[in-house]
Amino acid sequence: MDTPMPTSIKSAAAALTPEIRALRHELHQHPEIRFEEHWTSGRIAAYLTEHGIPHTCGHAKGTGIVATISGEGNRCVALRADMDALEIQEETGLPYASTIPERMHACGHDGHSSMLCGAARILWERRAQLAGTVKCIFQPAEEIAAGGRFIVEEGILDDVDAVFAQHCWPGLPCGSVAIGTGPVMASADFFRITVQGKGGHGANPGAAIDPVVVSAHIITALQSIVSRETDPWSSVVVSVARIASGFASNIIPDTAVMEGTFRALSPESRQHTLEAITRIASHVAQAFRASATVETEGPGYPVLINDVAMGEFAQSAARKAFGTEQLIPVTHPYMTAEDFAYYLQKVPGAFLFLGNDTPEATDPPSLHSPRFVFNDAALPVGMESLATIAEEFLSTP
Ligand code: NI
Repeated sequence: MDTPMPTSIKSAAAALTPEIRALRHELHQHPEIRFEEHWTSGRIAAYLTEHGIPHTCGHAKGTGIVATISGEGNRCVALRADMDALEIQEETGLPYASTIPERMHACGHDGHSSMLCGAARILWERRAQLAGTVKCIFQPAEEIAAGGRFIVEEGILDDVDAVFAQHCWPGLPCGSVAIGTGPVMASADFFRITVQGKGGHGANPGAAIDPVVVSAHIITALQSIVSRETDPWSSVVVSVARIASGFASNIIPDTAVMEGTFRALSPESRQHTLEAITRIASHVAQAFRASATVETEGPGYPVLINDVAMGEFAQSAARKAFGTEQLIPVTHPYMTAEDFAYYLQKVPGAFLFLGNDTPEATDPPSLHSPRFVFNDAALPVGMESLATIAEEFLSTP
């Protein structure tokens, strides 16, 4: 039987920490990748059931969960956590390390889901004083597949007035929260350029059209998108990350393939960068008698833009909960991406960075590293930030 919850959100989060830490470690041992989060989804649903929190399962292609906590009032606020892991072999040596080969929670999504379970439990205990409804969204496939867009397409946000999410952030002190307004993360798109030349003998290039040389010119020319075509005050990244061609040292191949990613901080520069990659690749190829086609993969990730009013609201809620020193300004956007951007295209809201530094580590591993360790000291802070923002949003006219 549940013991009664303490009266403040802060003390409730502190009281729940051992239980949520244990849940986090369980999730960490069972990492699952995009749309395969069946064990994870089942464990989260079991936690919600155990505490009597109403929820529905089977969302976003199957593994998504939405818990709904209703008080008195018509407004609705949503909180979102991601559940998926990465295709990484864990190297932390932790006693609760991954039990599944080449699968690891290396981006802290085990922490995000656990903290949202804790926040849901706090809000459920306080539902009598909630001035509206809180939807807690456990979302699959944040990495690569942009599973967030399925949540939006399913209509889960149709009755939602504001939406908030957070990501653990190594590099920010544990106990702090960083909240920005406007663009805080870049768009992400993935491209493939195929250069069609004409194969032949390596000793007789005049009779061939060498796609390797053409690719080298294209890669060089693509660097001018950032240096010569983009406003210096606007940030764009173009990275060719893979090139493949040929099979022997004396044969000029027919084709070459390059793959890469581009990032931008506005929908306009995102569009311009794609147009520029396509233009430069095809015209450089043409100049060398070859041809090039450019394809993009999937819908990509939009720019993540915090609504100014919602960002400022979240800042003031965090300042009240944690004090001014713990509220860190976001000095610049990050060029990484997040599919929470799809939520923010639909409903105003904000994305928070939750300090996750481990002070004793001299060279702390980054997110997506096989040695990344989520700092459990952030758990009560994350639970409190989510529950406070939801409750304050509903009670603010
Ligand atoms: Ni992540």
